[in-house]
Amino acid sequence: MEVAPAPLVASRFREEFPIFEHTTYLNSCSQGALSPRVRRAYQEYLEGWDANGAEWGHWVERAEAMRAVFARLLHASTHEIAVVTSVSQAVSAVLSAIRFEGTDRRRIVISEHEFPSIGQIAHAQELRGAEVIHVLPERDGSIPPEKFAEVVDERTALVCCTTVSYRTGHRHDIGEIARIAHERGALCLADSYQAVGAVDIDAHALGVDVLAGGTVKYLLASAGLAFLYVRGDALERLVPTQTGWFADADIFEMDISDYSPAADARRFEAGTPPVPNIYAGVAGASMIEEVGTPAIERHVELLGTRLLDGLEALGAPVVTPREPDQRGPLICVRSSDVDALVAALAAERIVVSSRDGNLRVALHLYNSEEDIDTLLVALSRHRALFG
Ligand SMILES: Cc1ncc(COP(=O)(O)O)c(C=O)c1O
Repeated sequence: MEVAPAPLVASRFREEFPIFEHTTYLNSCSQGALSPRVRRAYQEYLEGWDANGAEWGHWVERAEAMRAVFARLLHASTHEIAVVTSVSQAVSAVLSAIRFEGTDRRRIVISEHEFPSIGQIAHAQELRGAEVIHVLPERDGSIPPEKFAEVVDERTALVCCTTVSYRTGHRHDIGEIARIAHERGALCLADSYQAVGAVDIDAHALGVDVLAGGTVKYLLASAGLAFLYVRGDALERLVPTQTGWFADADIFEMDISDYSPAADARRFEAGTPPVPNIYAGVAGASMIEEVGTPAIERHVELLGTRLLDGLEALGAPVVTPREPDQRGPLICVRSSDVDALVAALAAERIVVSSRDGNLRVALHLYNSEEDIDTLLVALSRHRALFG
């Protein structure tokens, strides 16, 4: 695919996001910016409801359209995708499919950079006989695959590693971590929420068994919608005990006499699909598909390099690595008072966020070189808050 140069991506999509008329928005790691397309999608849902009441046929069609979008974004097949309400729900369903008690594989290995849900769901399995091992970062914050190799062994059932750390912006070598997991007979799960939409993800090429993400951030839609990819050949051995009627082989059979989950990844779904969010999800992702994730990834990489150059010139304590293959759309800077720094920037209509004392600057298709320069000029005035 032809990859557009950085300024072209932003100039083509900028006017789709009214917030840029008055704000430098660099917070897609929390919430992607709102577009008229997504607003109209919600309106369309409401109008259909008003005109026809429950539009079950149309809703099911929208949910299948969403499944197809997620599949295309991950270079996967639709039968490998569950359309769910959150990453937390999806990962809980996956973990409910793994037996720990009374087996030789009781361990769940997780990176120290996991989002709270993943760590908490893993530790919840201690009630079911699991043991959780944390893989700690090196002094520079990185977690190279070798750190996983040190602890993943024949006692490991599952290895979890986030693709891009929501706390530091480090991007992990998921392909190699999956290879290590498989070599030792374990499954591998990647939480890709901080990557999908801004990074090209080929789930099959990565080799992971499970990959999850949602629409709130770089997929440009809103809360209450996520996806779960489960690799075709891992499906058969993962039969969830967390379930619901939309996970059944025949949803509208309405049979309460047994448990007969769908043969495909729909077995990880639960109740009524999040229909309004699906309307929005299809609209948000349409912009990602129009540009293409390889072009967005390249755009974000170039903006990231510009930002890192500027931060270096300011002497800022950058937490995220410089190498393009070790970072994604999120660049983090350590601050002595991050709340004050976020507030000072907000007062200048520059929207960023924070985690763990780090300022988080998130780059996406709509961001431009001007956004980076605006931020750098402001940061040069608030240098006292680096640290
Ligand atoms: C890496 C990561 N995983 C998971 C989540 C939360 O997912 P959900 O609320 O859909 O469970 C977030 C949200 O901030 C995240 O950044």
